[in-house]
Amino acid sequence: MKTSWPILLLLLCLTAGSACRQGTHTSFSQPPESALVLDSTTLGVSTVIQDLNVPWEIYWGPDDRIWFTEQSGTISAVMPETGERKVMLVIPEVYRQRSLGLLGMALHPTEPYVFVDYTHLKKNSTIVSKLVRYTRTKDTLKDPLLLLEFPGNTGHNGSRVTIAPDGKVMLATGDAARYPNAPDTASLNGKILRMNTDGSVPADNPYPGKLLWSRGHRNIQGLAFTSNGHFFASEHGDATDDELNLIRQTGYYAWPHIEGYADRPKEKAYADTFAFIPPVFSWTPTIAPAGIDHYLSGKIPEWRNSLLMVTLKNASLRVIRLNETQDSVLGETVYLSGIFGRLRDLCVSPSGDIYLATSNRDWNPGKGFPKEHDDKIIRLSPIPSAGNLPVLPQSANLNTASLAKGAMLYASYCEACHKPDGRGIKGSFPKLDKSPVVTGDAAALLQLILKGSKKNTGEQMPGFAFMPDEDIASVVSYIRGAWYNQADSVSATDVQKERKKAGQ
Ligand code: HEC
Repeated sequence: MKTSWPILLLLLCLTAGSACRQGTHTSFSQPPESALVLDSTTLGVSTVIQDLNVPWEIYWGPDDRIWFTEQSGTISAVMPETGERKVMLVIPEVYRQRSLGLLGMALHPTEPYVFVDYTHLKKNSTIVSKLVRYTRTKDTLKDPLLLLEFPGNTGHNGSRVTIAPDGKVMLATGDAARYPNAPDTASLNGKILRMNTDGSVPADNPYPGKLLWSRGHRNIQGLAFTSNGHFFASEHGDATDDELNLIRQTGYYAWPHIEGYADRPKEKAYADTFAFIPPVFSWTPTIAPAGIDHYLSGKIPEWRNSLLMVTLKNASLRVIRLNETQDSVLGETVYLSGIFGRLRDLCVSPSGDIYLATSNRDWNPGKGFPKEHDDKIIRLSPIPSAGNLPVLPQSANLNTASLAKGAMLYASYCEACHKPDGRGIKGSFPKLDKSPVVTGDAAALLQLILKGSKKNTGEQMPGFAFMPDEDIASVVSYIRGAWYNQADSVSATDVQKERKKAGQ
């Protein structure tokens, strides 16, 4: 089937002539291998190219090829229709180790420039990051021009590069695992920087003479502009609080003082003194977000006006629905969980097909990965029906607004005892992760949360009857779905009922 498909297509093309090019999916030589069924659209899932070694950035080029970096230092361009690959450049001075190597890349839409960011080990053994501009020709990249060199470290080197709608180069740098860097306006680490295509400071930058655009970032792994020019970044949290941030010029995002929302006493106190911009969404437990892109095509109507985000630890594609003004999150749906392993980046073709890059040959592969032909670039493209293709498992629909509130409430009221990871402390505070009390009968669970435990020895569980019904519903729904738990959520009406039973 696999080998005969291109021949079949070729025959079809020869006999049907131009009809071949007009079809929405028949012009690809890679057959769909499975199907993802949405409300009204069925997506065929096919492998564009395989046997790669951590395609870190994939970028739809102005030449209608997918350009990609591999972490060890190779830049290639692949024809999406055929999977034919051309190696454009190998950069020998790339230093690959753990999360380090050839990372972000962006192609300028109107000028022949390619911007790449990578780590390099100097003769004196210090690690630096470099942003280098190459000039693109059909077959190669030439004339490297070093735009910026800045401190690196054995972790937290970012980075993504993208081109703003006004043609400026936007570079996200990691904090280089030195926390004081991020807030410090004098350091280039933990920042988003804005520069001209020759690396100079634009005359209209907010801090005269400085590349600084926003600060207080830990380790950004995704950058994208929406169609109306809003600028988003995905960012790795520490033990908790991965973030999706809406980036404003001069914005302060408060790492390392505030993780996620200002929801712990120390964070609240800090936020009283220092103005900061909270994330538009945050994830605890962490999912390790990576590449993001705005999807505006009508080709997959269910996903129109979403931010598409891939994740590493959570190994999924997340479709994050935006409001009409593209500045807040309405909800989130999770697809492909665990199926292709870690996902590092994605890009969208002008016709609305979606391409994903796996990252199973990196330093931290999940159980059962890498598989034989990892890593891959995968395409999601509408097909008329699933036919005989295996249908991938259903997605998980998350009630984001309420879950976000639940996570916040958990952080303020529960995690001091039960811990952010829900594992508790042995002998004192029971674990909530995989607890049958949490995932079992909702009525009994609500009674416990309302009344607390009546045990008169050892540690006690306080009662939370003082919290409004809505809040109890949010936090209980959160613990029932967090970590490895997979129980249904509860509603404020359920809480009201149990409150009455308890005579409160
Ligand atoms: C001051 C510490 C403390 C706080 C704060 C706390 N708990 Fe507890 N929790 C306990 C203790 C102690 C127990 C064990 C009680 C017992 O065995 O009688 C417990 C038990 C539980 C259980 C039962 C778990 C099982 O498997 O038996 C759940 C569910 C629970 N807590 C949820 C919560 C939620 C939700 C919050 C926040 C709204 C919270 N707890 C806040 C100390 C705490």
